[in-house]
Amino acid sequence: GAPIEVDLAPIAEGQIVKMFWRGKLIFVRNRTPAEIEAARAVPLDDLKDPEADQARVMEGRENWLVIYGNCTHLGCVPLDFQGQYGGWFCPCHGSVFDTSGRIRQGPAPINLPVPPYRFATDTSIVIG
Ligand code: FES
Repeated sequence: GAPIEVDLAPIAEGQIVKMFWRGKLIFVRNRTPAEIEAARAVPLDDLKDPEADQARVMEGRENWLVIYGNCTHLGCVPLDFQGQYGGWFCPCHGSVFDTSGRIRQGPAPINLPVPPYRFATDTSIVIG
């Protein structure tokens, strides 16, 4: 699949937009400062799939979280802003993801992965 360019300018702080790339659902989330802080306050030892938030976003652009949008358990689409960590809740079998898209509870084995992407300008990314 060809790379896609995503204009970030219309995505307000606190908002999530969804798109498809190579037939896969992608979430782009403009995180609030509180959501970033919550993700960074978690000790790695508390994580099933230990990954620092810093390793999942780009330095200086920490508000932008870009992740695949299908649950890493059996592929359902988790619900935005649900679950006790303010991330996503998968209604199929109860996996709970945090504001970094990391698995926090439930059967999903790994975090929602980050697709390959780069910033093309200050307000746009290219996925792929
Ligand atoms: Fe999400 Fe099973 S598919 S918890």
